[in-house]
Parts: sequence; C-alpha cells; structure tokens
Amino acid sequence: MGRRLMHALVYSGFVDGAVGLKHVEVPIPKAGKDEVVIKVEAASINPVDWKIYNLRLLLRPLLSRASHPPIPGNDVTGEVVEVGSGVQKFKPGDKVITVLSVYTAGGLSEYCVAKEKVTVLRPAEVSAAEGAGLPVAGLTALISLTQYAGLKLDQPDNGPQKNILVTAASGGVGQYAVQLAKLGNAHVTATCGSRNFDLVRALGADELIDYKAAAEGAASLRSPSGRKYDAVLHCAPTVAWSVFEPNLAENGIVIDLIPSAGTRWASTVKKLTFSKKKLFTFMLTPNDDEGLKFLVGLMKEGKLKTIIDSKHALSRGEEAWSKGVSGHATGKIIIEP
Ligand SMILES: NC(=O)c1ccc[n+]([C@@H]2O[C@H](COP(=O)([O-])OP(=O)(O)OC[C@H]3O[C@@H](n4cnc5c(N)ncnc54)[C@H](OP(=O)(O)O)[C@@H]3O)[C@@H](O)[C@H]2O)c1
Repeated sequence: MGRRLMHALVYSGFVDGAVGLKHVEVPIPKAGKDEVVIKVEAASINPVDWKIYNLRLLLRPLLSRASHPPIPGNDVTGEVVEVGSGVQKFKPGDKVITVLSVYTAGGLSEYCVAKEKVTVLRPAEVSAAEGAGLPVAGLTALISLTQYAGLKLDQPDNGPQKNILVTAASGGVGQYAVQLAKLGNAHVTATCGSRNFDLVRALGADELIDYKAAAEGAASLRSPSGRKYDAVLHCAPTVAWSVFEPNLAENGIVIDLIPSAGTRWASTVKKLTFSKKKLFTFMLTPNDDEGLKFLVGLMKEGKLKTIIDSKHALSRGEEAWSKGVSGHATGKIIIEP
C-alpha cells in the first residue's frame, strides 16, 4: 500500500528571476535513523528560499529521497509524529522547533522530516508562529554577534560597551539582531525605512538612519551621534567596502550576510594585508542545537520576540512568497498548514 499523502508547495521548475510554486499532493516523508517526522504547525520563509531555488532543484537528485521537486522552507515548528530508530531526545507528541537543511528544506508542507541534532523542544510560552520565525534569522543574528562581533549576551559582565550597526533592522535577521545586541549591552544604530522607526526603536535601537533618505556614500551609514562602529551586521543589499571603512572603529569589523564578488575580494585583501579593520562573509550552517536552545530560552523568558509581518495559510502560500520576494517584509512571514 502507498504512503499517505500530504499537501505541500513545491518549486514549479527552473526559473530566472521571479520564482514559481505549485500546490501538490505528495507522500508524507519517513524518518531516517537520526530523524523525526514533524506535523507542521507553522513555518517561516527566508530569502534563501528564492535565492537558491535553482541550486535546490539541481541538487535534488543527489540529496533527496523524494520523487517530487523540492519543497521550500527551512524554519519549522510542529509536533513529532514519528521518530527514527536512533532518536533519543524526542517522542511522538513533543512540540518542537527545527531548522531544516539549507539545500533540501521541506517546511512548506503538512509534514516534514528533520534531523534530531538541530531540533529543540518548544516550550508552551513560545507560540508556534513565534518559534517558526526563529531558526535561520535568529541563528544568523546570534552567531554573527557572538562569534564574529564578540558580544557576550545576557551576562552580568558584558565588558566595555560596543557600538554595533545593524542594517535592514526591520527585516527577519535585523529584528533579532537589534534585540540580541541590546542583550549584549551594545549601543545599537539601525538602518530601516522611516515607517519602521517606532518598531525598531521599541526593539531597543538607540539611533536610527532612514535608508531611503540617507546621504550618498560613506555618509549613508554615518552614526547620527558620530560614533564609529566596532561591528556592522550587514543584512541589506550590497554596499562597497569604501562605504563601511570610514565608519569603522580602529579594529572594526563588517559581517556581510549577502557578499558580492567585490566584498569577497575586499575580505580576502583585508586578511592578506593583516588589516585591523576586517570584512567577514557569513554563511549559516547549523549543525547542532546549542544556538537554537539559547534563543528559545530567551524567548521563553520574554527577553526576545518575533515580529510577525503576516500569517498565511499554506493553501495561499504564493501570497506569502510574493511578499517575501518583494524584500519589504517587516519581521517574519509565517505560513500555517
Ligand atoms: N549568509 C547567510 O547565512 C544568511 C542568513 C540569513 C539571511 N541572509 C541574507 O540576509 C539578508 C536579510 O535577510 P532577512 O531575512 O532579514 O531579509 P528580509 O526580512 O527580506 O528583509 C526585509 C527588510 O529589509 C529592509 N530593507 C530593504 N532594503 C534595505 C536597505 N537598503 N537598507 C535598510 N533596510 C532595507 C526592508 O525595509 P522596507 O520595507 O522599509 O524597504 C524590510 O523590512 C537577505 O539578503 C538574506 O538572503 C543571509
């Protein structure tokens, strides 16, 4: 007898530019030895879902057991319904949050399969929608700020205060970055559109720059109070090194989430010339549950929240997709089966 079917959104084929999705009925996935099957309660989308659309299609024959085109969506909350033979941490009925592989994804569906090692329990204090916003965007903000910018979060002794610039602070990554940087006792300058000033200020930003009204060149990122930045978490479209450089403190660094060929080259040159000011390119590759557990703990204690742009039913997933692709979401876009 065949496996039970589920409703899912899949990529509709190779595309150039704007992407297409289609609704399908496909078999519910099975858990491998170290995996759990999750009945999805909520999922969120990220720019990676449309940026590596063609790459996911190309890699599917190598990476996926499924017979259908890839299902987008890396960030999922839901209930465990099946566990693999080697799974120890979870049992059917557990409410969980997980981050699916960036290459195979699978969250925009009624069921998905996740690795045990990147899955954590979802406490009752964290709603399914709030939790679904967290994985990719929250982990990116957390790792950038702690491992690259050197912030110590939520500790009584955070050391000397750092000046941090977060660009696109109204987006999925930026909203968590502002909140986390404040938990690290940083002075936070944030760029966003003026329509989101109140929101980003409420998240904790000390100073704001309206990216639509900003001056040209280096002046576009200049702190209104004249501070130089110890670290820039750059979540907005590509900016040249010459724009960052005059705004950095002596040992200031830039963590670029969307590196272009030019910024990769600048990053290499900084390394080769032992420059005090540095540019790091970043790629999230979650391999354990440590960061997600920490973030969920902060959320449980009310120290971190998810700003939700909008919620959409899976049956109307294209609307969510268009909103995401527009690049103008405020916070996270959530899809619910
Ligand atoms: N390398 C990695 O591992 C990694 C991980 C996560 C994300 N990323 C990348 O990081 C970027 C941010 O991701 P995200 O999920 O935060 O995106 P997002 O949620 O789609 O960002 C949307 C927000 O960005 C704002 N924005 C757009 N252009 C801006 C500009 N020039 N200056 C300031 N704000 C601007 C928009 O404000 P308005 O609506 O007012 O325009 C909107 O609120 C994406 O390109 C994503 O691919 C990379």
